[in-house]
Amino acid sequence: MREELLNFLTQRGTLPEPKAIDYLLSFENPLDYLSSLLNHFEEKPLILTLEEIRRVEAIAERASIEAKGRAQLKPEAVQSKLLEIQKEAPAVPEHFIKEPKEVVRLRRRKEIVAREYGPELKILKDITGKSTSRGKMEDFQRYFRNRFQTMQRMLLSRRELGGCVEVSKAKKLSREVCFICIVNSVKSTKSGHKILEVEDETGTASVLITKTSPLINDWIVPDEVVGIRGSPGKDDLIIAESIVHPEVPINKEFRKAEVSVSAAFISDVHVGSKSFLEKKWSAFSQWINDGEDLAKEIKYLVISGDVVDGIGVYPRQDEDLLIDDIHRQYEEFAKLLSSIPEWIKIIVLPGNHDAVRPAEPQPAIPTSLRNLFSSDVIFVGNPCYFQLHGVEILSYHGKSIDDFVSTVPSMTYSRPLEAMKEMLRKRHLAPTYGGKTPIAPEEEDYLIIEKVPDIFVTGHVHGFGMENYRGIRLINSSAWQSQTSYQKMRNIDPVPGKVPIVNLASGEFFLKEF
Ligand SMILES: [Fe+2]
Ligand SMILES: [Fe+2]
Repeated sequence: MREELLNFLTQRGTLPEPKAIDYLLSFENPLDYLSSLLNHFEEKPLILTLEEIRRVEAIAERASIEAKGRAQLKPEAVQSKLLEIQKEAPAVPEHFIKEPKEVVRLRRRKEIVAREYGPELKILKDITGKSTSRGKMEDFQRYFRNRFQTMQRMLLSRRELGGCVEVSKAKKLSREVCFICIVNSVKSTKSGHKILEVEDETGTASVLITKTSPLINDWIVPDEVVGIRGSPGKDDLIIAESIVHPEVPINKEFRKAEVSVSAAFISDVHVGSKSFLEKKWSAFSQWINDGEDLAKEIKYLVISGDVVDGIGVYPRQDEDLLIDDIHRQYEEFAKLLSSIPEWIKIIVLPGNHDAVRPAEPQPAIPTSLRNLFSSDVIFVGNPCYFQLHGVEILSYHGKSIDDFVSTVPSMTYSRPLEAMKEMLRKRHLAPTYGGKTPIAPEEEDYLIIEKVPDIFVTGHVHGFGMENYRGIRLINSSAWQSQTSYQKMRNIDPVPGKVPIVNLASGEFFLKEF
């Protein structure tokens, strides 16, 4: 009969603890009793414990008393057997020590908070399906007009820029002037000063930053939009006295989710590369499936680009590839994602190694590749601005960090958060056109950081960082690839296998390392 009870339960996806079986066997017809008892469970139990049986019996008894006016459901022999089992039970029951792995896994799953809530994902801004760029001259003019006008609006809300005039008017005034402009070029003179060539829709001007001015250390890059306050100097030059960047507020309040669920952030999986760290990924996958500690609240997994290694992305890449077919690389990646538990919503962005156009904003990977994945995986563009349980997230692969590192002397690949802070200060993900980051001239500039996010995440540099900056959670989300020969040549030292996690209800940061 023990065997029959076990079969009956396991066929229904329920694992009984031995004490529960002992108890059921004390009934004259254990199977009949069990099936009538199961009718009183609110939902099918994963693990059937004696405690759970007692809880449900109490409910059933109460219902029976109310219905029939009698208290005793079970014969006296069963009551005394129950007392016996409870009395004999050791302080640490043996079956708990010997609890099979499967039972442990299922018991933990029962405690997983993230399973109790459905996903609440809203895409707020994404180029996917909206690209109109043909790369013609008029597209560029339209793109830069949109960039200037949008950023001008943002800058005009700054108190320091009250009373601003147009550039053509500013050049004619003999008093202190203030204007908003786009920087065409930044040049250093032999004597150590800097000259900015700037313009707005009405004209151009030359702005001098003297070498003794504190502004000399403010790293202005071509194509960014700034506010300038200055005074007229010799030869039509305007001498800069202050430069205003759009910036983010000093202390932004975190929009809190109403329930305690978390988002985990990873990127740069580089499936298909010989250096893909399979063991680290397996450990991560095991951990997230076990649903232990931090994992039990993870409702979202955001993957910020370079999910596969791609083909022909850098010179002699074929020597580093284990899988030299892009379709098969995505098939492998789909297999990896299929091991992530079904209660976790996965959001995937492309990066510069993925099978989409390299120019940013990049659309989501094509449908032919998306079809390899379960419908639970959401593919978005790069960058993407979205909302998870009310918390707003800006996710960007981070290619422009290459530009910051190569042009700003204080920036390094080992400190990617510094470049991210500069993006926030300039309110633009890739301010310089024509650098290492290819940009598609779309009708509107998707790379402007128009809204201030609660979480700003990048990847790309295979480093790692997390920090609270002015109330914004900044994350650079590690990698799953060890150092390649190309990275060695470029002095990039990866920090793989780190998983930053943000609790969306509190904004707290956590880190899990593999
Ligand atoms: Fe990468
Ligand atoms: Fe990348």
